[in-house]
Amino acid sequence: QPTHLEKVGKVICVGGGTGIAVLYPITRGLKQAGNHVFSVIGARTKDLLILEDKMKAASDELMICTDDGTYGHKGFVTEKLRETLEKHKDISLAVCIGPVPMMRAVSNLTRNYKVHTMVSLNTIMVDGTGMCGSCRVTIGGKNQFVCVDGPEFDGHEVDFEELIRRN
Ligand code: FES
Repeated sequence: QPTHLEKVGKVICVGGGTGIAVLYPITRGLKQAGNHVFSVIGARTKDLLILEDKMKAASDELMICTDDGTYGHKGFVTEKLRETLEKHKDISLAVCIGPVPMMRAVSNLTRNYKVHTMVSLNTIMVDGTGMCGSCRVTIGGKNQFVCVDGPEFDGHEVDFEELIRRN
């Protein structure tokens, strides 16, 4: 399904590892749609951080985190996300793409702030044609197939425990 992009006001895009490559065109699209875009990108270490320049150009404000502190903030993207949500209570959309545990942590955090959150579950796909069945996930208690119904879903509806087991 095509990514739904519209002007909602303030948005925050959160990416981890190679998920930043998937997040980048969405970030750019949200900016082009007229949103004020905060972005937080993270990697384990500086050498593994990708697309910093492109994410910077697509964002009004870019924050960088590394687990080992070799670049930017030392720590997880959720720390910068929490800070930004505290400062800007009018953020109305979060988009998060990265490792599944990161998307789970981000969704749990944004739930407390009642911020609608979109996650991309692309990593569980295998054939991407709707035939292999490997990308089955539970969204709001219903079976969905990431390659047919997604890849983006409401992060607050995803059964992350099941997704982590199946992934
Ligand atoms: Fe095979 Fe979706 S990836 S059915």
